[in-house]
Amino acid sequence: MRKYLVSLFFISTISALDLASIKRMYTVATTEAADIQFDIVDPGALLIECSAACDSGWKYWNSSCYQKFNDAGTFANAVTSCEALGAQLVKISSSDENEALRKEFDSNVVVGEAKQTWIGLQYSSGSWQWVADGSTPSFTNWAPTEPSSSASGMCAQMITDTMQKAAYLFERGGWKTYSCDNTSSSYICKKNAN
Ligand SMILES: *[C@@H]1O[C@H](CO)[C@@H](O)[C@H](O)[C@H]1NC(C)=O
Ligand SMILES: *[C@@H]1O[C@H](CO)[C@@H](O)[C@H](O)[C@H]1NC(C)=O
Repeated sequence: MRKYLVSLFFISTISALDLASIKRMYTVATTEAADIQFDIVDPGALLIECSAACDSGWKYWNSSCYQKFNDAGTFANAVTSCEALGAQLVKISSSDENEALRKEFDSNVVVGEAKQTWIGLQYSSGSWQWVADGSTPSFTNWAPTEPSSSASGMCAQMITDTMQKAAYLFERGGWKTYSCDNTSSSYICKKNAN
């Protein structure tokens, strides 16, 4: 029996994006002598283009729209810039959401920590809190040895690019602390879908 292995992005419906990764073998009868087998791999959560739900430049996932801005600034600058767009510095609530962002925004280059990406998490009044709603995170994705400093004045970055620091080399998508007043080269805004 001949086999045709075909990898397809399984994005025909939004709800399919929220499923855990699955791998199924489909067999299709044909007029050829042998059946054709399709190996369909669900890549898991992905941001997608959806002009009905998100304005130009923003990408959709789970009723929200996301955009990464490559503008250097402090954490406070990033918060203000997102708010000016009717959005908020991103709050990340699940590993699916974190993975969708990592896959979308990983630029696949090796850079230092000043080039990583602000997310909307800061240490305030004795705990880590999302700026979007003041809640303490139920989901976290700290990189190994992080949070290295939980103290006022500390904020969080996502490692969207490979880090030069050896401990972080394979920790794309992981979170790390960074001084809120330091300049980070990018940030991710999130807003409700239309
Ligand atoms: C989808 O969005 C809702 C509403 O914000 C949130 O409560 C839920 O955790 C999100 N789902 C995932 C898998 O992150
Ligand atoms: C702030 O940035 C400086 C210069 O890049 C760096 O040496 C320092 O470690 C950073 N501080 C924190 C707390 O991340």
